[in-house]
Amino acid sequence: MPVSYYEKERVFKLDTPHSTYLIGIVDVEGFLGHIYYGRRIPDRDMGYLMRPREHRVPSEKNRERLSFYDGLPTEYPGHGIGDLRESCLCVETPEGYRACGLTYRDHKIYGGKPKLEGLPATYGEADDCTTLELAAEDKVLGLTVRLYYTAFETLDAICRSVRVENTTGKPIKLTRVLSACLDMDNQNFDLLTLHGNWALERMISRKKLGWGKQGVSSLRGISSHQEQPFMALAEHSATQSQGQVYAMNFVYSGNFLGQVEMNQQESLRMVMGIHPTDFCWNLAAGEAFQAPEVVLVYSSAGIDGMTHTFHDLYRNHLIRGPYQNRARPSLVNNWEATYFQFDTQKLLDIGREAAAAGIEMLVLDDGWFGKRNSDNSSLGDWVVNEEKLPGGLKYLVDTLNSMGLRFGLWIEPEMVSPDSDLYRAHPDYALQIPGREPTQSREQLVLDISRKEVRDCVYDQIHKVLSSANVEYVKWDMNRALTDVYSLALAPEAQGELYHRFVLGVYELQERLLRDFPNLLLENCSSGGGRFDPGMLYYSPHIWASDNTDAIDRLKIQEGTALVYPLSSMGAHVAACPSHTNGRVTPFETRGHVALPGCFGYELDLTRLTPEEKAMIPGQLEDYRKYGPVFRTGDYYRLASYSENHEYDALMAVSKDKRLAVIDYVQVMSRYRGKSIRVRLNGLDENLYYRCSETGEVHSGAGWMFGGVPLPKLNGDFLSRLIVLEAVEAE
Ligand code: GLA
Repeated sequence: MPVSYYEKERVFKLDTPHSTYLIGIVDVEGFLGHIYYGRRIPDRDMGYLMRPREHRVPSEKNRERLSFYDGLPTEYPGHGIGDLRESCLCVETPEGYRACGLTYRDHKIYGGKPKLEGLPATYGEADDCTTLELAAEDKVLGLTVRLYYTAFETLDAICRSVRVENTTGKPIKLTRVLSACLDMDNQNFDLLTLHGNWALERMISRKKLGWGKQGVSSLRGISSHQEQPFMALAEHSATQSQGQVYAMNFVYSGNFLGQVEMNQQESLRMVMGIHPTDFCWNLAAGEAFQAPEVVLVYSSAGIDGMTHTFHDLYRNHLIRGPYQNRARPSLVNNWEATYFQFDTQKLLDIGREAAAAGIEMLVLDDGWFGKRNSDNSSLGDWVVNEEKLPGGLKYLVDTLNSMGLRFGLWIEPEMVSPDSDLYRAHPDYALQIPGREPTQSREQLVLDISRKEVRDCVYDQIHKVLSSANVEYVKWDMNRALTDVYSLALAPEAQGELYHRFVLGVYELQERLLRDFPNLLLENCSSGGGRFDPGMLYYSPHIWASDNTDAIDRLKIQEGTALVYPLSSMGAHVAACPSHTNGRVTPFETRGHVALPGCFGYELDLTRLTPEEKAMIPGQLEDYRKYGPVFRTGDYYRLASYSENHEYDALMAVSKDKRLAVIDYVQVMSRYRGKSIRVRLNGLDENLYYRCSETGEVHSGAGWMFGGVPLPKLNGDFLSRLIVLEAVEAE
């Protein structure tokens, strides 16, 4: 059991393979203090780390209670009575009282991990993990708050969530319920976050932590292109492979706040949860509110250590379904090939080329329904446009199936076009503020997915379409941020619940889809990578990483994405050239190498390729078949970063048994060098011998790791090479 309670010391100890987390019950009143989180230690009597004497525990010095409240490292801070740092829980009573402070009531420790009702979350059985359920209370309010901590047996991750139970006997309002808090001393940290915009998502930012509040957030209704629900504190000296890193990632797909506050005496408070702005949840007596989960990862092995924990946790304890451990089909998506200008004939032409090349699936993107011949109409009218697709989907899919191709379909269920039959019949289904014209984006409005009748209306239409043919894959898109967030179906005092209810509605719909079509492979997407978050990974094993399909920009996008999310979760395609995003021309081979580590496919008109390009596809598919598994299941290492050096990029993946390693190298900007670049590898078995596909030489893992591999000198820009190291018997 990695979780224990020590009665004498009044300490909870959570151990993962390389980390320890200690919680202490402080003073006679039972405050829940945070003692320690860091490298694994055997000790449990470390309460001195909370500096109880310096903070003057109230039983000894009640006159200094405020400085105690404001100084004690705390597990889950309330507000209004003295902890003046960022709070995690704000409660308002019918009288308008706004105060709360929690103390220990009781606890349970059990194997496995409870499900979070209606929410995505990591999962695990009794032999995977142990949960500490800590019941705290506000004695004045009579309120119960359950803090959940799940420690994993083989991973340095602790998953936290919070449930607020209204045991006060009166209705209350929750104006803030964050999901995790970590108080600690500053250790010369840098703050690591991911920022971006449309077509350039998840750019890595690393900067020195300063005084005051800093962090990440979204108020767009989605986790967003602009900021990720991820932040990490890395020691300033931490590198890819050395140093301490503390990370938080929010398993949620809506508004969020991730914040670090450096306050007096250089104490840090790191918090994460649903953004309190525009949030207010009414909790009737007897009701409970479940806040989403935050994943805490600790690494004493640098940034790679953090990344490996996230990847393994998400691959084995978040992603679900039949494709969790299976190769995803190679596919061709018609978006950049045709946009809205297609018909059955054109799709079959592409399909024929795809089948001949050995591609496994065709995904039909936007434009197959209603009267949608551009992006200005028909969202909400999920009926096949038989002018484009005579004989419906069935004829198209049956014909593709007979060619040996599987079929996938694009949908955007959360949206409605003002020019649609749905909107004409039910204008009230769109989010809108009475008296104000709702703001359009891409000529579309957002449906009020918090309402069951709206969900049913859209879902029933989509269910019918998906049942009409052999649809094995769905790409679920969401192409705008939320505005005009008011529901005509909610009481005025409940409008603060709407952002979260919207997200719950999306989760309910995706769960329904997976339940009704259990063999379906779901891909999430939001104008590219606007909803790349762990919440979405619970429903879809991969997510479209960006609308930017230029291979060179993708290097940066995929590097940022892979900092947290498994390579196999990134949708990545060989796309049309010149790039539709930035006009850049890159070789077909390079586009293949850049897409290879992700969930691989093509996004171009296969009928217009040159014979040379066409001839390369079977080889690329063979690489995906051969090396896809090592990228999908192995350990990922960043060897060189084009974002940093502006010249070249190299990543590697090593199979878990360490017998196969693949290096994906791209020379972005060529320049004369008197000598080759040498990269030191990582993750090999020092004692095994490996043959390098580039040079044919055999050396020990130690040799390749500590001596390095020379990268081939390539003559030109945007060139790439796949270098494979396979274990051989020693010669
Ligand atoms: C979004 C997606 C694209 C494509 C279009 C269709 O932008 O990211 O891949 O599906 O919508 O409208």
